[in-house]
Amino acid sequence: MAELRLEELSASTIVAVNTLTLKPGQEQFVAPVSYAVAAAVVDPTTSWQRVILDGDEVVGFIQGNFDPNAEQEEFRSILWRINVDADDQGRGIGTFAVEALRSEARDRGFNHLDVIYEPGESGPEAFFLRVGFVPVGETSYGETVAELAL
Ligand SMILES: CC(C)(COP(=O)(O)OP(=O)(O)OC[C@H]1O[C@@H](n2cnc3c(N)ncnc32)[C@H](O)[C@@H]1OP(=O)(O)O)[C@@H](O)C(=O)NCCC(=O)NCCS
Repeated sequence: MAELRLEELSASTIVAVNTLTLKPGQEQFVAPVSYAVAAAVVDPTTSWQRVILDGDEVVGFIQGNFDPNAEQEEFRSILWRINVDADDQGRGIGTFAVEALRSEARDRGFNHLDVIYEPGESGPEAFFLRVGFVPVGETSYGETVAELAL
């Protein structure tokens, strides 16, 4: 693995991000309902998006949202989306990206980061628990809300 780095989305990487692949069974976990509902009211200027590169190759994407004024507490400092290309999963790339988001959240003065995910086989729960998120509640859609202390 070459050195992992993050870049802002650009015309040259956006296509690669949109064609990142998933392993069979992962599709249903990418966008829990709560995010879709909240997206309608989220101000796009509050989002932090980074492309993950391994050398020159786009291997993943991470998006966080930071909005101290969000009505629901869990949406004030939240991991919104993370996707590592199917062929590159299991190499530490997701961990690298979460660490970067964690550092961004800390720099913005937050003391924790939240994530909302659907529990289930092939889902990201084991990953989130492995990087340190702790389940703290459930949404009305039955998704898990988990928190990572910074
Ligand atoms: C979840 C995801 C981002 C993890 O990325 P990754 O690069 O494979 O994660 P890492 O290699 O950094 O894994 C870190 C640890 O979590 C574990 N882990 C990762 N995915 C796992 C899974 N599905 N089941 C069990 N353990 C898992 C790894 O084994 C590793 O443990 P280790 O440190 O003991 O070796 C990636 O699987 C993915 O893109 N999934 C599809 C999209 C998705 O569901 N996103 C979340 C909702 S937005």
